[in-house]
Formats: sequence, C-alpha cells, structure tokens
Amino acid sequence: MNSNFRKFIFQDLQTVEGYIDPPDALVFLSLLQAQQENGLAGGVAEIGVFYGRSYFLFKKVCNGQDKVLAIDLFDMDDKPDDAPDQYESFLENGRRLGLPVDEELIIKGDSTRLLPNAITDKIGRTRFFSIDGGHMLHHVISDGALATDTLADHGIIAFDDTFNPAWPEVTVGVSDFLRERKDTFATFCMTKYKTYVCRREFHDFYYRAIAEAPDLMAFDHVETEFLGSKVARLHNPISRRMVYELMVRSGMRAFSERVYR
Ligand SMILES: C[S@@+](CC[C@H](N)C(=O)[O-])C[C@H]1O[C@@H](n2cnc3c(N)ncnc32)[C@H](O)[C@@H]1O
Repeated sequence: MNSNFRKFIFQDLQTVEGYIDPPDALVFLSLLQAQQENGLAGGVAEIGVFYGRSYFLFKKVCNGQDKVLAIDLFDMDDKPDDAPDQYESFLENGRRLGLPVDEELIIKGDSTRLLPNAITDKIGRTRFFSIDGGHMLHHVISDGALATDTLADHGIIAFDDTFNPAWPEVTVGVSDFLRERKDTFATFCMTKYKTYVCRREFHDFYYRAIAEAPDLMAFDHVETEFLGSKVARLHNPISRRMVYELMVRSGMRAFSERVYR
C-alpha cells in the first residue's frame, strides 16, 4: 500500500472543503499509478474543481510529471466584502498543502463553451478526465463530448454523481453517453458516487488494474453488467462508512485510514 499517499488522502485532503471521499480518492490513486507503471502518459483535467479536493490529489500523484488542468466557473461565493472568494480559497489551499496551483493551467469559465483545443493546447491529450461540473443533462452531454475529444487512446473519464437521486440528469447523461458510444466506450468500475469509463480496447487493462490494486482490497469487488460491459462495482458497506464517520467526528482522523485497509 502507498502509505504516503494514503496519509495525504485521509488527512491532508480532508482539510479541503469538497466532495471526493476516500474510496474514490483511492480509485483515482490506483488508476493514475497503473497508468504511470505502464507508460500511459498524458495530461489530467477536471471540470468542476470547487476548492480543489480532487484537483490536489491529481497534483500530488502527478508530482509535476504530467500537467493538471482545472476548469471551473469559480463564482460560487462572490462576496461583496473582503472575505476570500472561491478562487482565492482554492489558491490558498494549494499554498497550504505545498502544492501550488499553476495558474497558467486554470480555465475560469463555463466548460460547455470550451473547444477541445482549449485543453489540448495546454496539456496535450488527456489520460484522466474528471467530470464534476454542472449537473444538468446539457452539461453532462457537453462535458462528456469535450472529454472524449481530448482523450488519449488509453484515457479514462470519471463521471461524478452518477445514480445520485439528487442529480437524476447526470444518470441520464452518462447512460446516453455510453449508449451513443457503445462501440467505442465501456464502463469498467463503479463506486457509490462515480462511474469510470474508457475506450473498449483498454477495458480489460483497467478492469484488471482495479481488481489488483493493493489500495482497493478493503472493498467487495462485485462483478456487475452495465450497458454491455463487465464492471467492477466497489461495494463499501454502510457499517464501514459509519465507523469511518464516527472516527473522523470524534477527532480520530489520523487513524481513520485503518478502516479502509
Ligand atoms: C460539486 S463541485 C466539484 C467538487 C470537486 N470536484 C471536489 O472534489 O470537491 C461542482 C463545481 O462545478 C463548477 N461548475 C458548475 N457548472 C459549471 C460549468 N458550466 N462550467 C465550469 N464549472 C462549473 C462549480 O463552480 C463547482 O465548483
């Protein structure tokens, strides 16, 4: 297991307000490392950065080797007073974590208005594309197409909030994405929150990477069929999630990593 990265995920990253939880952070880590170990290079991009919780994980794992691009409206808390706004808080998080944001690789604006070369001109073709921006159908359709058009042959797209009843149009958008591209794209992994897809030629590689990842051994790997693909569904029982939450809330964050061994 990656003790340094696990410490970063379970302690440092939790100090950044945001949404990626430890199970998906461990999936991101495992996939990025499988790519690095097999010479599958390329840029990393995220639509929907918020205060940078998943962005700083990308920065940490890429360690300056591959470029990490962030796209966000950065207009969540436009404050009239002197309080730091979303973008300033994001930059401050980078300084605090020792992972300074490269502002050349930040796109402030609406992702649905971007052309693929706005991304590839900055970071080349992408090996990992996280979609966590606007959560309505037109956002997911547009962001999925943008990701596809920038993706390296071996690239992964991670869609957030799939099958979350709070965001039903994300589910429709991801299903449409896969049905429209059923000959070219396949799902290889699903978690409580995210759906991971890649080109069909790389499905077996990523399915195996998930099955063999030392950091994902704590989860039940349930083989599931989804729109014509064999998917590893990583089941995280409620009992474990409760123990984890109790530890974090009672000030035992430093030990919470053990719950996921
Ligand atoms: C759920 S948050 C992202 C959480 C983040 N990935 C994390 O790990 O904490 C959604 C973000 O998407 C951004 N967003 C919403 N619509 C967008 C759009 N059309 N273009 C770019 N960013 C958008 C919001 O500003 C917000 O910061």
